[in-house]
Amino acid sequence: MKRIGIITSGGDAPGTNACIRTVARRCFYDGVELVGIFDSWDGLLADKVRLLTRDDVTGIVQTAGTILRSSRSRLFLAPGDAEIAKTALAKHGIEGMVVIGGNGSQVATSILADSGFPCVGVPKTIDNDLAGTELTVGFLTAVEMCTHALDNLRATAESHNRVMVVEVMGRNVGWIAVESAIAGGADLALIPEFPFSVDEVCDKIRTRHTTYGRNYSIIVIAEGAVDRDGVIDPKSNVQDKLGRPKLGGVGPMLAREIEERLGYDARNTTLGYLQRSAAPVASDRILATRVSDKAYDLLQGGQSGMLAGLAGREVKAVALKDIVGKEKRVTKSWARLAELFG
Ligand code: F6P
Repeated sequence: MKRIGIITSGGDAPGTNACIRTVARRCFYDGVELVGIFDSWDGLLADKVRLLTRDDVTGIVQTAGTILRSSRSRLFLAPGDAEIAKTALAKHGIEGMVVIGGNGSQVATSILADSGFPCVGVPKTIDNDLAGTELTVGFLTAVEMCTHALDNLRATAESHNRVMVVEVMGRNVGWIAVESAIAGGADLALIPEFPFSVDEVCDKIRTRHTTYGRNYSIIVIAEGAVDRDGVIDPKSNVQDKLGRPKLGGVGPMLAREIEERLGYDARNTTLGYLQRSAAPVASDRILATRVSDKAYDLLQGGQSGMLAGLAGREVKAVALKDIVGKEKRVTKSWARLAELFG
């Protein structure tokens, strides 16, 4: 191919720019034109498209965000959308696409590939919920950021004899919560995969304080976590562009319950978008470079409908049709590890 397109879609994640830079470098080396599509699929339809230059991708391996900008597009939700996208891609002479995104974005890649347009996926989301890859670009940086926050919050929790609830991202899966809880030495990690009981949470905190003499506790809760009795409900009536409920608020709800039921002072800290905004850690930059390099090879090698995923220490091609729509969920053994230290 002599002219390929690149797009970033879904929530931004640290390391995305390192992905763009890798594909660009491969193109420049091979004398291939790289067309940047700005503002995701909506940007394609609005002709927010131009050739990327060496200057565009200089000095970006270490930056968060995406130079192509991103959004959650509704394109590909309706039958016939692939044809609309193909017409727009043809208008710009684009022969194949590299799509950098998470679960929703890779559904789109798969639909486009099925319609006969050559395209490949690069796994990128802080949630790490994409099947077919052990890690997604951005996840390790988010875990690092949350761990750092837990390390810092410990001081104020201890100084004030408080229970500190820390709300992190994770709509349907709790990878960020579990891994940062392990690394940050939190006492509990509450995640969407395993609905919890507020009574059991309170029992555990009470035991820590009365039996083990602790004067503070730290609980990490994923934004999509639910309790078995319907006390903590993450869903609001406000919806995002894709019609999904906007999340956020389980942390304050839990802190309130703990104060009321135990009489301990409790506070919530929501880490929010800071989790997506840190400069990528080295391992994310390296992962980004490796999976994007592989994606470019796949596309130029004529393999469409594939994701460049991490399997052990190797980057391998995985058929998108086998993984899209399947979430990589936290397993019992990972959750157990997070509980062990409470
Ligand atoms: O990138 C995925 C994610 O981090 C989810 O955990 C979270 O629910 C979502 O982004 C929120 O992002 P936005 O408000 O940008 O849609």
